[in-house]
Amino acid sequence: MKFGVIGYGYWGPNIVRNLASLDGSQVLAIADMSPAARSRAHKAYPSITLTPDASEVITSTEIDAVAVVSPVWTHYELAKAALENGKHVFVEKPFTSNSAQGEELINLAIKNNLTIMVDHTFLFTGAVKKIRQLLDEETLGNLYYYDSTRVNLGLFQHDINVLWDLAPHDLSIMDYLIKESPEAVVATGQKHVNGYEDVAFMTVYFPEKIIAHINVNWLSPVKVRTTLIGGEKRMVVWNDLAADEKVKVYDKGVNVTNREGVYDLLVSYRSGDMWAPQLEQIEALHEELSYFVDCISTGQQPFNDGRAGLRVVKMLEAASESLNKRGSLVYL
Ligand SMILES: NC(=O)c1ccc[n+]([C@@H]2O[C@H](COP(=O)([O-])OP(=O)(O)OC[C@H]3O[C@@H](n4cnc5c(N)ncnc54)[C@H](O)[C@@H]3O)[C@@H](O)[C@H]2O)c1
Repeated sequence: MKFGVIGYGYWGPNIVRNLASLDGSQVLAIADMSPAARSRAHKAYPSITLTPDASEVITSTEIDAVAVVSPVWTHYELAKAALENGKHVFVEKPFTSNSAQGEELINLAIKNNLTIMVDHTFLFTGAVKKIRQLLDEETLGNLYYYDSTRVNLGLFQHDINVLWDLAPHDLSIMDYLIKESPEAVVATGQKHVNGYEDVAFMTVYFPEKIIAHINVNWLSPVKVRTTLIGGEKRMVVWNDLAADEKVKVYDKGVNVTNREGVYDLLVSYRSGDMWAPQLEQIEALHEELSYFVDCISTGQQPFNDGRAGLRVVKMLEAASESLNKRGSLVYL
């Protein structure tokens, strides 16, 4: 599989490094309009062709697939041009700037028999795979909530707010872990520095009383990546910054009994063991790109396809609408 990569800023080097080390894939060209980015790429990969012009990559007859690793507002135009030129597309999160663009790209890929994969990297981590297994095996019991804190100082994006930058990680994880489709969204936030919301809080309502909350912030003095996932039987604490034991399962919960003849509910707390399951030690992006190459070769539809990307964009659109109305409930 011969790749062209568009965008060699912060995330692009990770894509190029993984594609270059993958069996069965080769990076032929990198496009980045920034001379500094091209110079970094040249130092790391002297034999890869470099160009400031993305269309050279998109129209190259030697290239089979294009990775779009540029800012969000460029995803639609670049992915569309790549699909029109017969290239499979690996596109960064969030998939597109709005759902109409996402739908158009999905239809174009179907028409041209091409694969779209959206980079929802976390779905390929050992932690998320383990949590999905715990849910599938009903170790946690019925799901009550998903509550994530994803905060740090910067990196400020210049075209999107903090929700569109950081929340796609949690929204794609929720889309993967929670079987029910979300019903409604509430989002609040505030702009302090560069005209985009830099602190935001998002609540997502699901059927079956499942609720999710995401706290994203570019103005936090410390970096936190902690998610609590509460079930009827057990609860998970996932600290993605922990060197080991990132996922801890707590055998804690609440039992409610209603004694005959007694009208008050009796609540008792259960506090059992905690254990830290073994997680697969893998580089998620390597696994994801390997899966992309496999999906193209076998014609299999990836689970993180354009439709998965679109579901995330729809939640973000609803969140933007709610944010603009200072937290009104927006139905999906
Ligand atoms: N999956 C993840 O965990 C993850 C992590 C970080 C960023 N991202 C995503 O990756 C994308 C890029 O983010 P970043 O932080 O690397 O941004 P960045 O600004 O650091 O880099 C983007 C690069 O794209 C180049 N570029 C922009 N428009 C171009 C065009 N039309 N043609 C060629 N080059 C162009 C810029 O010169 C820049 O070097 C975003 O969609 C972001 O959300 C994903």
